Amino acid sequence: MLRNTATSWGLVSRNLHWLIAAMIAVQVPLGFWMNAVYNELVATKSFDFSQLLLISRVHHTNGFLILILTTLRLTWRVTNPTPAMPAGLAAYQRWLARLTHVFLYALLFAFPLSGWATLSAYEGEFPIFFFGWDNVPRIVPQAVDGSHAPYEFYAEIHEACWKVGMVVLALHVAGALWHHVVVKDNVLRRMLRGS
Ligand code: HEM
Ligand code: HEM
Repeated sequence: MLRNTATSWGLVSRNLHWLIAAMIAVQVPLGFWMNAVYNELVATKSFDFSQLLLISRVHHTNGFLILILTTLRLTWRVTNPTPAMPAGLAAYQRWLARLTHVFLYALLFAFPLSGWATLSAYEGEFPIFFFGWDNVPRIVPQAVDGSHAPYEFYAEIHEACWKVGMVVLALHVAGALWHHVVVKDNVLRRMLRGS
């Protein structure tokens, strides 16, 4: 079934959940790798940017795709029923699960937008890639004359996304495993197989 019901996640929701999770699993190490390559270039005063540009193309493109898929996912979510949480959960547990999900959705926007803003603010010329296109428009003004927030400001936000995201994601995965192993309900199963 494509659509969600009052008790199950449909194919679209499930595939989007796991596809985005897989893209995040690629995107985070790519981000750190990109940073390491950049620092190496600076440290060795090298001008061979080819590897940095290649990793950047993949990181930017994948990040924009996550942004697009998250928008589709939320649109799908509000136009579909949402499966109810299992009966028997305490009020604080429902609240914690909901809060975690809201945070995860917020991060899925804050992550790519802050990355995009980081490069938009950069005072030099660095391409913002989307597949073969290397001239994605800026979303914040370039920090040329000191009157606008600089690269570092948005880079800090981008990095904070990861620090917060790590904790929220750990909580999310721990919650899913707790349902599966301790409570033995169908919460993880219905996200994997639908019922
Ligand atoms: C869900 C999407 C994204 C995730 C999970 C993500 C994750 C990361 C991570 C983990 C890092 C290394 C840690 C850090 O220095 O902050 C990083 C660095 C970076 N990312 Fe992303 N990123 C995403 C989207 C984007 C997009 C769309 C762009 C640009 C179009 C971008 C541009 C950058 C830049 C410029 C850096 C280096 C920042 C610095 O100098 O510290 N990111 N990203
Ligand atoms: C091993 C990794 C993961 C596991 C085991 C997992 C498990 C689950 C499960 C079982 C649910 C269903 C909860 C319910 O039925 O009420 C869920 C929902 C959700 N997951 Fe994950 N997840 C993982 C990774 C991720 C990642 C990487 C993200 C995003 C960054 C994410 C974002 C979400 C969101 C936003 C929801 C709420 C869906 C909604 O209510 O619309 N998950 N996850």
